[in-house]
Amino acid sequence: MKQLQGRDLLGTADLNPPEITSLLELARQLKSKELVIQCSKVLGLLFYKASTRTRVSFTVAMYRLGGQVIDLNPNVTQVGRGEPIEDTARVLDRYLDILAIRTYAQADLETFANYAQIPIINALTDLEHPCQILADLMTVQECFGSLPGKTLTYLGDGNNMAHSLLLGGALTGLNVRIAAPKGYEPDPKIVQRAEAIASGKSEIVVTQDPVAAAEGAQVVYTDVWASMGQEESADQRIPIFQPYQVNQKLIDHADPEAIILHCLPAHRGEEITAEAIESKRSRVWDQAENRMHAQQALLASLLGWE
Ligand code: CP
Ligand code: NVA
Repeated sequence: MKQLQGRDLLGTADLNPPEITSLLELARQLKSKELVIQCSKVLGLLFYKASTRTRVSFTVAMYRLGGQVIDLNPNVTQVGRGEPIEDTARVLDRYLDILAIRTYAQADLETFANYAQIPIINALTDLEHPCQILADLMTVQECFGSLPGKTLTYLGDGNNMAHSLLLGGALTGLNVRIAAPKGYEPDPKIVQRAEAIASGKSEIVVTQDPVAAAEGAQVVYTDVWASMGQEESADQRIPIFQPYQVNQKLIDHADPEAIILHCLPAHRGEEITAEAIESKRSRVWDQAENRMHAQQALLASLLGWE
């Protein structure tokens, strides 16, 4: 994985198909402990939004590599008081070996990447969540053996998760169907990019029809109806998104062997029923575990392990 050394991961399509395949294989080897990697580097976590999985899985992944982690909480660093990103990025670049950022605007992440030489990882922006997608692809591959030709249906908001699933699916031959209400569709530029990557070899569908989207799918995926930063519109979204809820009636339209995924945190009774997330079809805990393995592979690769 030397080819990833020093690179940024600002979006899912920063990786090409062979790189994703190699990362998933490396994650598998790390998970099975066939391989142990040691590298004494320092990862910074600069998160402007809450996080449980991403924060903890990155921290443990780095510790497992023998590295260290510094939590750069904006509440106790100068970024929270308005120090410019350009200045912060150039300073952190001198201290850290790698930096994972969770923020709002993708443009802010890109500014960090432009002003720092070290690898910058997108740990979630309003546009994308590429690290989540690596774990999702790993989970689907574990369940079905391979990705090409399988169909993942995402129901809900055309948000960061929908975007990264579109791109990650297109890059790996997974068919991706997004069912979102009118006015909440994924960004057309991301859809076009996914279509260009898939170039007819896998299916990219955006529809308002949740039942048609779920028909025969191997993976049924959902996310919160109001993402971080959209809390004010949460109540108004509930009736609009209700037909997109992942419940037994909807799952009955999917493949009989379908699995249920959710990036978490989940709101039971909103985007997913308690019955669905707790059912035998649910793989959400394996999916959450795989964040750690996929990110360990990503960190090792970006830090130049081979
Ligand atoms: N799925 C995910 O990124 O979870 P956190 O917000 O807890 O990191
Ligand atoms: N779409 C959600 C994902 C959380 C992991 C959000 O951005 O809040």
